[in-house]
Amino acid sequence: MSIAVCPGSFDPITLGHLDIVRRARRMFDVVVVGVARNAAKNALLGPEERVGLARAALAADPATADVRVEVVPGLLVDFCREVGAVAVVKGLRGGADFDAELPMALMNRHLTGGSTGLETVFVPGDQRFAHVASSLVKDVARHGGPVDDLVPPGVADAVRAALGGGAGARSRG
Ligand code: PNS
Repeated sequence: MSIAVCPGSFDPITLGHLDIVRRARRMFDVVVVGVARNAAKNALLGPEERVGLARAALAADPATADVRVEVVPGLLVDFCREVGAVAVVKGLRGGADFDAELPMALMNRHLTGGSTGLETVFVPGDQRFAHVASSLVKDVARHGGPVDDLVPPGVADAVRAALGGGAGARSRG
């Protein structure tokens, strides 16, 4: 049985993330979405809220209904060892993603002693979502723009609430 982890900040989960998890699930018997902390980013949503939104979105699609969602409490490689993963799956929207992801993949390989037991698999995302990033979703929402068609149901409301709620999100500096 092959197990893969799809890690990320998921702050919030987007339609682009769902596309990658769906593709990962077609390649691996078991997929675990790992909601982790990116030290380079300040999260808008708390980890439990990010987990809840991801769980609801994945459960709503029969293709991903059996995907687990868990918080990654520390290093991703430790989490992967605990769940028995043989692969980390990350989506690529373009070259900038690859440039950001390659050092992380190599660091994770370094942390596993260079073993071949855990490989990072890069999956090109659907081009329809090439412009969809959690950071842009938050920025558009912060300025009162529409983001409902970029994220699963319920996520846009959660983002707006976290930003201060509805029209209030528009007036935040
Ligand atoms: O969605 P992101 O922000 O691109 O995902 C990056 C993430 C959260 C997967 C990465 O920062 C991570 O793995 N964090 C967990 C802590 C860890 O293992 N850090 C070393 C990564 S090389």
